[in-house]
Amino acid sequence: MDSMDFFATAAKGTEPALRDELRELKFRRVRADRGGVHFSGTMRDGARACLESRIAVRILARVVEGHAPDAETLYELARTVDWGAWISPKHTLAVSAVARDSGLTHTQFIAQKTKDAIVDRIRDERGARPDVDLADADVRVFVHLSKDHAALWLDLAGESLHLRGYRTKIGEAPLKETLAAAILRYSGWDRRAPLLDPMCGAGTIAIEAWLWAHDVAPGLARRRFGFERWASHDEALVRAVAELREAATARVRPQGSESPRVLGSDIDAKAIEAARANARSTSAHIDFRTLPLSAAQPFSTPGFVVTNPPYDERLAADDEFYRDMAEALRAFHGHEVAILSGTPAIEQAMRVRWTTAKQLWNGNIECRLLRYSIR
Ligand SMILES: C[S@@+](CC[C@H](N)C(=O)[O-])C[C@H]1O[C@@H](n2cnc3c(N)ncnc32)[C@H](O)[C@@H]1O
Repeated sequence: MDSMDFFATAAKGTEPALRDELRELKFRRVRADRGGVHFSGTMRDGARACLESRIAVRILARVVEGHAPDAETLYELARTVDWGAWISPKHTLAVSAVARDSGLTHTQFIAQKTKDAIVDRIRDERGARPDVDLADADVRVFVHLSKDHAALWLDLAGESLHLRGYRTKIGEAPLKETLAAAILRYSGWDRRAPLLDPMCGAGTIAIEAWLWAHDVAPGLARRRFGFERWASHDEALVRAVAELREAATARVRPQGSESPRVLGSDIDAKAIEAARANARSTSAHIDFRTLPLSAAQPFSTPGFVVTNPPYDERLAADDEFYRDMAEALRAFHGHEVAILSGTPAIEQAMRVRWTTAKQLWNGNIECRLLRYSIR
């Protein structure tokens, strides 16, 4: 298989966590950049990233790049690619675009021009053209235009990798699974100490923690990835993906005496119902309880609290709420506490100095992951 340049996209602020993860997973030429992480490898490596990365949102493979200051040069650049390698006239196609500091600014127009070049090239060679299907395309192409430099990418996963397949129910302000995985990494949790999320909502942090601790590859619950619908998905790659899935399944460690205790609680009984249902779709053993934060108890041995409290933007919370929350969390003596905070009110209410504060984005909400060692 030929070597390709990949770009794993990541939520803003999670790029360093993704870089560390991809290095641990032994990918080659891993380098963090704005919005994601570069790495190189074969299609098998790209498939493995889809299966094994907890933090990547998409895995993109670069097909071409070049100078594209206007619509004509962009069209010509896209036409140089042998698209028939991945797309036949029977396949469906979707193209989307982003542009920054470029002559071309209208992203829909950029996507349209690129799509025209792709379908024209395929029609000229095969006598028929693929259809566009924005909702459920076989092949997804991304155009990234920055300072008149265009890069065209194929999306291996086909849809966002935060959709693991286990979350059938969501709470009021759910955290994406990919962001929860990055938060766990930034929290310093060693995957052995007991862990509690006392405002767990639908259980995303707790479930991601259990799956990480037991080496359950996040893509195992997915039926298939986008690249498995491409024209290039030949026998060799089918076999390679089956082997990757088998190896990942063999690495899973079942719940046992070595397993960390993972607990989730929430004041809302409906949220706990959702968390239990979500955990049941996996092999996770998590103790979920309906409990206000004020009644949550520290572990008898040093543990971790990792949590995503309500902030004004999405759930009602006021200063009194944050005061009570801070008081409850300060009672977790000997514990490491990581709070995904979307408001300065939480930091003020905590009154003790954080050990680290990491800037992260929860969707478009700017947040800080505040870490405290409670003594
Ligand atoms: C931002 S949501 C957490 C979402 C969660 N991370 C998920 O992915 O589903 C905040 C949660 O805090 C819970 N909550 C609010 N006040 C609480 C309290 N006093 N005690 C415990 N949980 C509380 C809410 O019910 C809500 O589920």
